[in-house]
Amino acid sequence: MRVVIIGSGRGSNAEAILAAQQAGKLGRAQVVRIFSDRADAGILALGPRFGVPAEYLDPAPFKTKLEGEGEARYIAAVQACAPDLVVLAGFMRVVKPGFLNAFAGKIINLHPSLLPSFPGLDGIGQAWRRGVKITGCTVHRVTLEVDGGPILDQQAVRVEPGDTLDSLAAKVHAAEHALLPAVIARLSEGA
Ligand code: GAR
Repeated sequence: MRVVIIGSGRGSNAEAILAAQQAGKLGRAQVVRIFSDRADAGILALGPRFGVPAEYLDPAPFKTKLEGEGEARYIAAVQACAPDLVVLAGFMRVVKPGFLNAFAGKIINLHPSLLPSFPGLDGIGQAWRRGVKITGCTVHRVTLEVDGGPILDQQAVRVEPGDTLDSLAAKVHAAEHALLPAVIARLSEGA
């Protein structure tokens, strides 16, 4: 199963996926390419470390969505990788019908809350400020509804009395690092 990862940030989840692959724990999945919409994103540094081509792709002209010329660039570049699965791992843009239709049924996203609670930006901060006692992370299929596609799996995280926003974020990220590679491995085995 050929996997393309797209992300905007430090890439800790992409790193967890690549580490799982190195450890032989990613099933039949193989990461073939990493793309980022930010030239300075940490995720791009994973390429040389793990021997996977990693590339900045200009997302212009929009700031928070992938549409128009930028979308066309992403469709062409990702199609050239012939992916079976496209993993949005911290990709901070809304994807639109052009990209969704080009990879119909093949795109999954990671979100740092127990959806359908706290969709959108800063899922961890939203949960913290709301005072929930259990939050977590979700991997779901991507549809036109932002953070609203069918849920593939979730991992819960308990908010403990001594937690701070930072300690909660660290626990949610640790849960993400376990959940996302496990879902990819499962999908690769046809489950
Ligand atoms: C992760 O916490 C992921 O859930 C979140 O961005 C972070 C990326 O971290 N994604 C979203 O909020 C998407 N709406 P990483 O760059 O270290 O993998």
